[in-house]
Amino acid sequence: MLINPQQMIINAQKGGYAIGCFNTSDLEITKAIIRAAETQNSPVIVATSEKAIEYAGLEPLAASIIEEAKKARVPVAMHLDHGRSIAAVERSIHFGYTSVMFDGSGSELMENEILTRHAVELAHHAGIPCEGELGCLGKTGVSANKLTNPSDVGDFIQKTDVDFLAISIGSEHGIGENERLNIGLLKKIAKITPIPLVLHGASGVPDTDIKESIKNGIAKINIDTDIRHTYGKSLRAILKKYPEEEDPREILTKVIEELQKLIEDKIKLFGSSNKT
Ligand code: G3H
Ligand code: ZN
Repeated sequence: MLINPQQMIINAQKGGYAIGCFNTSDLEITKAIIRAAETQNSPVIVATSEKAIEYAGLEPLAASIIEEAKKARVPVAMHLDHGRSIAAVERSIHFGYTSVMFDGSGSELMENEILTRHAVELAHHAGIPCEGELGCLGKTGVSANKLTNPSDVGDFIQKTDVDFLAISIGSEHGIGENERLNIGLLKKIAKITPIPLVLHGASGVPDTDIKESIKNGIAKINIDTDIRHTYGKSLRAILKKYPEEEDPREILTKVIEELQKLIEDKIKLFGSSNKT
């Protein structure tokens, strides 16, 4: 079923586990995410970035997620990941997203607060939650991390009324060489606010750090790069193993199986199996 993720994330926070938020850009990844959630009997969030929307088109991408989610035997939320404009948030709400993120982390603090507040108002008016980002995650090989400053946290939440907060505590987008989390910083932030905290850039973070972050307030974990790597790697291996195969349905069925295994392992790591 397609649902608003607010309660599932609050339940995760209270229960000491995290909800996986997995990025998709096509039907195959969406199917793998939902099948993995079903075999694990886990709630799940299917997310699309603006880049994925640009690739697939908002309407077909959203329509396919909604159809797959409606048939699912587990709760599935559809989330806009890193919305960077108010227009992107508005469009997603219009197309039936059940959750949005406004990412103003590239702006100065005050502008981030103003824009995030606007996005939150739009989301709440539509009856869905909004995630904000404070501090800024770097991208492997492209930009550096700007860790979240704990002294900005209280004010940001009060001014914006965000439902969940993405924080920068050492992970980065992509797979970096040494993505260790600053658990001390996470503890400080979790003491300041009761709202669920979100870990982005989780591909490349050691399992031990992921587990420790969940113990200390992370209730939603975003995974993208690991999915794209597994897609590319398995596709290359399958084409090599079956060089005569030309039917995309045969080829992509095998890719879906590999993606499903990866996502099942993430769900087990996050502790959300059997939490529906
Ligand atoms: O918003 C998406 C996530 O932060 C993904 O991070 O690409 O390192 O898995 P990742
Ligand atoms: Zn992210």
